[in-house]
Amino acid sequence: MRRKLVVGNWKMHGSRPANAELLAAVLGARPYRADVAVCVPFVFVNETAAMLAGSDLRWGAQDVSAHEQGAYTGEVSAAMLAECGCRYALVGHSERRAYHAESDALVALKAQAALARGVTPVVCVGETLEEREAGQTEAVVKRQLSAVIHQLAHCAAEMVVAYEPVWAIGTGRTASPEQAQAVHAVLRAQLQAATGRADTMKILYGGSVKADNAAILFAQPDIDGGLIGGASLKAAEFIAICRAAEQAAGGTP
Ligand code: 13P
Repeated sequence: MRRKLVVGNWKMHGSRPANAELLAAVLGARPYRADVAVCVPFVFVNETAAMLAGSDLRWGAQDVSAHEQGAYTGEVSAAMLAECGCRYALVGHSERRAYHAESDALVALKAQAALARGVTPVVCVGETLEEREAGQTEAVVKRQLSAVIHQLAHCAAEMVVAYEPVWAIGTGRTASPEQAQAVHAVLRAQLQAATGRADTMKILYGGSVKADNAAILFAQPDIDGGLIGGASLKAAEFIAICRAAEQAAGGTP
């Protein structure tokens, strides 16, 4: 069985005192029999690294530049993230696709830039409510993933995929376990066709995951953990979600 992975996406939240308190609580609840990570705002990466260094908790960023280096004001490169110990970089989060006009092609380049520096891209895909209602869910997520698969080529099996239906993000409306599993199965089949190693790859679910719905979501055969927004900011809630991941994995070491 694949080991579960729970990733907190703090989005644009946090402050030094709040982060210290949250991370201390998450550290204090170790050990976890699941992989646990937090993706924090760029400015907090270093202090997160300082707090988590030496533990088995992982950290990462919420975006990465597609460029190696150069005159790209405001961008942060994969090499910089790697230097700060980032294990992960989210790429293609729906908020970046929607508010920063990130295309499938740009998302794919970002994933490639991250991987080239040893930072695992967590590639987010997901349909809007309109797209779901028009019966386009499968086509949309396959198109989004296909761009990245194509760009990463023989390294495609190194990415983590996160299915985040846009209509479930921050809305309190979660995809049902059956709805989520159905899309995860489609994504895994696509990854299998491309890499032949999809059984080793992690596909996370994101969108209003909370302590009280995590267990049933994580129990689905193709859901390997979660990408957690709002609930990752509350220590007790986040820790409970990590526990749900452990239980769903049946204590996989
Ligand atoms: P919420 O858990 O707040 O719905 O956010 C999900 C998300 O976008 C994680 O990346």
